[in-house]
Amino acid sequence: MPLIVAIDGPSGVGKTTASKLVARELNLPHIDTGAMYRAIGLAATRAGVAVRDAQALEELALRSDIEFIPGDPPRVLLDGEDVTREIRTPDISMAASHVSAVPAVRRILVRKQQELGRRNGGVLEGRDIGTKVFPETPYKFFLDASPEVRAHRRHAELSAKGETVAFETVLADSVQRDKQDSTRADSPLMHDETYTVIDTSSLTIPEVVDAIVKSVRERES
Ligand code: DC
Repeated sequence: MPLIVAIDGPSGVGKTTASKLVARELNLPHIDTGAMYRAIGLAATRAGVAVRDAQALEELALRSDIEFIPGDPPRVLLDGEDVTREIRTPDISMAASHVSAVPAVRRILVRKQQELGRRNGGVLEGRDIGTKVFPETPYKFFLDASPEVRAHRRHAELSAKGETVAFETVLADSVQRDKQDSTRADSPLMHDETYTVIDTSSLTIPEVVDAIVKSVRERES
């Protein structure tokens, strides 16, 4: 099997930035699986499908053509339309978290993620990469940080994009989303002893990237 690096963890922990740089260092595609759940969240919002209507969401996921094109920046196409920007709003973050709890949606997207990874390998980031998507990879990392640290990072990201959202709102959203993602029945956010846990609270991005790349290279050689 091609080289697969699994990077899981809660929202706002810096997974995307770190994964992108790890992928560049290891010369692998970067696959942001959250973007696929976001695309279904967006499709559901546009179609007026209730985020808890499992049957309607399954049908929607089956008929939606979601393409994730690795690259810098990676792009997400929903039925051929580039929705890379549209999927990044706070509303779609919450919708993605809701639709990701539906087992049929997960089944469809996990299959796509496995196909993508098997093609050229990859650094896959998400919530269940090391537990469900590629449980057989020896390279599993769980990034963690306190909710406050993560909300601060998310808030800074949104501010940099010119979006004015109160810090308290970002923190409350983040806590709610993590609770949903960690307590759902199907593939909750979790890690076990097969993971290397990295607390990113007091680490810089280059330090996180370095720790992951070193760990992979040491075991690969
Ligand atoms: O990583 P993100 O914030 O872009 O993910 C959006 C939502 O998608 C997140 O709240 C949980 C869900 N998700 C998931 O359930 N499994 C994944 N592998 C990736 C994301």
